[in-house]
Amino acid sequence: MAIAVVYFTRTGNAERIAEKINESVKGDLIKLKDKQKWRGFFGYMNGGRHAIKQKIVDTYTEPDVDLATYDSIILITPMWAGNLPPATYSYLKQHPKITKKTRLVVQSAGTDATTYREKFESYVGKFIKIYSISRSQKEEATIIEQIISDIK
Ligand SMILES: Cc1cc2nc3c(=O)[nH]c(=O)nc-3n(C[C@H](O)[C@H](O)[C@H](O)COP(=O)(O)O)c2cc1C
Repeated sequence: MAIAVVYFTRTGNAERIAEKINESVKGDLIKLKDKQKWRGFFGYMNGGRHAIKQKIVDTYTEPDVDLATYDSIILITPMWAGNLPPATYSYLKQHPKITKKTRLVVQSAGTDATTYREKFESYVGKFIKIYSISRSQKEEATIIEQIISDIK
C-alpha cells in the first residue's frame, strides 16, 4: 500500500509530527507549500484573514507528486483561525478525489479540532478520520501512536 505523509507547516510543528509518524509508517514524506509569505506578524495576520475567507492560493508539493496516486494519505496541518490554512484548504478543494482517502491531523495551540469536523468536511468532503493534536493538552505522543496503529 502506497502511503503519503503530507504536511503543511509555518513554524515546524506539523513537520515534526509528520516525521515522527513516518518513522513508523515508512511512506513518502511530502511537503505541501504555497507561494505566500506567512512569516512575521503581518504574515500571521494575513494568514488568519486568508484562512477565515477561505482564499484559494497556488499550491505545490515537494517533491512534485500526484497525491491521487496514493492509496492512503495522512495530512498534517496547523489550524489557522478556526479554519484550515489556505494551502491545505486550496489543495483539498482543487484535488477533490483525495479527501476520502485522507486522515486529517489538525494540530493547534489549543483548539480541539475534532469539534470542527463538520465545518471542514462541508468544505472538502468526508475524511477517513480527523485527529486533533493540541499543544495545551500535551497529547502529541498519544495521538501519533493512535494514528500509527490505525494505519497498520
Ligand atoms: C494565522 C494563524 C492562526 C492560528 N489560529 C489558531 C487557532 O484558531 N487555534 C489554535 O489553537 N491555534 C491557532 N494557531 C496556532 C497554530 O495552529 C499552532 O501554532 C500550530 O502548531 C502551528 O503549526 P506549524 O508549526 O506546523 O506551522 C494559529 C496560527 C496562525 C499562524
